[in-house]
Amino acid sequence: MSYRPPAQVASDIDGYLRAREGKDLLRFITCGSVDDGKSTLIGRLLYDSRQIFVDQLERLEADSRRVGTQGSEIDFALLVDGLAAEREQGITIDVAYRFFATEGRKFIVADTPGHEQYTRNMVTGASTADLAVILVDARKGVLTQTRRHAYLTHLLGVRRMVLAVNKMDLVGYDQGVFDAIVGEFAAFAERIGAGETVAIPISGFRGDNVAARSEAMAWYAGPTLIEHLETVPVDADAAAGRPFRMPVQWVNRPDQSFRGFSGLVTDGTVRPGDAVRVLPSGRTSSVQRIVTFDGDLPQAEAGRSVTLTLKDEVDCSRGDVIAAAAAPPEVADQFEATIVWMADEPLLPGRGYWLKLGTQTVTAQVQAPKYRVDVDTLEHLAAKTLELNGIGVANVATDRPIVFEPYADSRDLGGFVLIDKETNATVGAGLLHFALRRAKNVHAYTLDVTRESRAELKNQRPLVLWFTGLSGAGKSTIANLVEKKLRRMNRHTFLLDGDNVRHGLCRDLGFTDADRVENIRRVGEVARLMTDAGLIVITAFISPFRAEREMVRALMAPGEFVEVFVDTPLAEAERRDVKGLYRKARSGELRNFTGIDSPYEPPVEPELRIDTTRVTPDEAAEMVVRLVVGE
Ligand code: ADX
Repeated sequence: MSYRPPAQVASDIDGYLRAREGKDLLRFITCGSVDDGKSTLIGRLLYDSRQIFVDQLERLEADSRRVGTQGSEIDFALLVDGLAAEREQGITIDVAYRFFATEGRKFIVADTPGHEQYTRNMVTGASTADLAVILVDARKGVLTQTRRHAYLTHLLGVRRMVLAVNKMDLVGYDQGVFDAIVGEFAAFAERIGAGETVAIPISGFRGDNVAARSEAMAWYAGPTLIEHLETVPVDADAAAGRPFRMPVQWVNRPDQSFRGFSGLVTDGTVRPGDAVRVLPSGRTSSVQRIVTFDGDLPQAEAGRSVTLTLKDEVDCSRGDVIAAAAAPPEVADQFEATIVWMADEPLLPGRGYWLKLGTQTVTAQVQAPKYRVDVDTLEHLAAKTLELNGIGVANVATDRPIVFEPYADSRDLGGFVLIDKETNATVGAGLLHFALRRAKNVHAYTLDVTRESRAELKNQRPLVLWFTGLSGAGKSTIANLVEKKLRRMNRHTFLLDGDNVRHGLCRDLGFTDADRVENIRRVGEVARLMTDAGLIVITAFISPFRAEREMVRALMAPGEFVEVFVDTPLAEAERRDVKGLYRKARSGELRNFTGIDSPYEPPVEPELRIDTTRVTPDEAAEMVVRLVVGE
């Protein structure tokens, strides 16, 4: 086999993953901490299987000499930690897929850094792996991190584990050390319900029991790591035996005469003539043709990217799933899921995140966790949120129904990621358990008296005038004046004010980020009901976060949400200090005070911005009223 540069290999790997070459191919992940010798081991695997390109090898030898590795041995870590920046930091920071082959098998290894912070990479790597190599430093034994890796890989559906006890050379190849580690790990593996674990004593640095049998450990009778990886059974592709599913990636419509639906067959097999159902709509049709670049196919199995044409003109767009008509996946908008949190900022229950599942993207809110899991003890602990690396179980609600399957049945239709809407960073991964019964049994009831008729009776267009700004900015003062002016013009209004609502509806909430998110969520829902009732709703809340203001905007009909930014500089609000709260906050008596030790995110494009250092409250109110009446 000729060698290709890593970048090219990486893109080919995607192809390999998709092709799911069954028994020829083993996808595995290596988990271990920076110092466990993971890079050295992977380098050794690649080297011993003779897949190292000659000129790369030469460079490596030169590098090793420069870095001054002991003796004449090549430092394999240098081979894997290819990036200069990573090398300088001394840690590997991304998932790298590496490809190698032996006589017996092809391998794709997801190399994920073991640094505690990088759970994200591990989740990514593990979500496609058949097997996990959990690396332990023989001198250190089983660490919290080891347990986290075992727990996570198991959770992510990796059914086989190898415990590689590395650096045996540094403990004098002592069987007692090995046995003790294996015993401790086996007990943990059993508790998480992981299947059989194979343990191998190795030295990645010296090569013991990696490709070649170790002479120093005659007491070990099991296979070498490569022997094991070459012979471990790869489950006959489970996806192939399942009912057909294809999430639609895009609709292929070059001209009027052709309309095809393109995507990857994630499960099962499809043939022309098969009855299919398009979800979430539930419409049925049958497959006409299976089109590919190389002509039509008589059938397509899981792992193939194809374009399907259907007999009937059914609505079907990106994000929909085409499935076997008789055994379709489920559709729902509320679930229970395991969430793995991967961001420095903790989860904010109630905040809207993008949820991506297959080709579907929706807005989702994660509720306060039912519990989080302590990975050392496996205890379920009470939790209000999830912090970096936290694993917990929570209910999730999406803004519209999605097509899914339990993660246990389908990694493709049961695994999702959560993305921060502002930064676009992936902040969490989720494994869907099941739809909540209420998602199926609670239906919106169509009322005969419509919101339009209610507004008509009041002779007005419902609106939300959403005031936002620092505490003491003048929101309540202006809002109050606006309401009086509108009242005089016979408008039906209602004023929701932070200080008032917090005595009733939101009495249970404080001023942590999470509580503010929930505060605004509730107020948004109430405002929405009041616009349904035909009212002009005026709200005066700090509402410090853009995400929640946007969430409320999204709840309303287009044009019904008017964001009014009461822009008073912090210094000015503090100088006024009407309630004496800034003084308390500065002295440390009051915590989480907006502008002092809690953030305020000013609106980017408010419908109206009021500079209270330039206009009087009455002038400000007049500006708002003109905005309402001028329409
Ligand atoms: S919000 O952030 O959740 O929108 P909200 O507008 O309901 O806040 O309440 C803000 C009011 O609560 C302030 O005007 C102030 O009177 C009072 N308050 C008490 N503690 C705080 C605090 N830590 N931060 C901000 N406001 C506080």
